[in-house]
Amino acid sequence: MKKAKILGVGGSPRKNGNTDILLDRFLTGAESAGMDTKKVLLRNYSIEPCIGCEACRNAGTCTRFHDGMELLYPEIEEAKGLILGSPTYNYNITAPMKAFIDRLYPYYNFSHERPGPYSSKLEEQGRKALVFTVCEQFKTDETGFALEALSMPLEALGYSVLEKFLVNNCFEKGKVAKDEELLNRAFEAGKNLVKALR
Ligand SMILES: Cc1cc2nc3c(=O)[nH]c(=O)nc-3n(C[C@H](O)[C@H](O)[C@H](O)COP(=O)(O)O)c2cc1C
Repeated sequence: MKKAKILGVGGSPRKNGNTDILLDRFLTGAESAGMDTKKVLLRNYSIEPCIGCEACRNAGTCTRFHDGMELLYPEIEEAKGLILGSPTYNYNITAPMKAFIDRLYPYYNFSHERPGPYSSKLEEQGRKALVFTVCEQFKTDETGFALEALSMPLEALGYSVLEKFLVNNCFEKGKVAKDEELLNRAFEAGKNLVKALR
């Protein structure tokens, strides 16, 4: 399989919903700028939540589960650009997206000190990311911290997060498809991610 340079990961359980539509648009923008892309919809993968066995500290990879992440680790490593999108669920990201992010834990180089300094096997490689969330509400105290939940772990892993895209006032399935201005912004953001990677 040809490896993608930008990997788009969607965390909505709702098929053809707002996150799916926007993710497509970010990726179309990236492709228009000449970049190979790959789309991953987490609902199509079986991904166990991390159980904190810490075996990856020594093994350098997850030895506990042999699941969908085994397919995704090579894609993550290959793609210098990453787009993560999740609907806001209870002020936060969805459970599949949280499981995916927690399973990136093997990418850390751990130390034995407590609290432990750490570094990432993915850092200093020019990796860039873009994150977005879609939510129903307007007010910050109701839209919550989904963008931070997406961006902070990526920054800790060594990605430079170029854009944190909040799409609010969006409840109905597929509503974003009617918002041309928003779709254009997503398209341009995809193009800008490519520019930043070059
Ligand atoms: C379980 C659940 C929890 C939700 N929690 C929030 C929330 O905390 N804040 C908010 O603004 N919208 C919330 N929403 C609304 C969704 O974020 C919104 O409908 C979004 O457009 C769904 O995106 P999708 O079509 O990509 O699945 C929630 C929806 C569900 C199903």
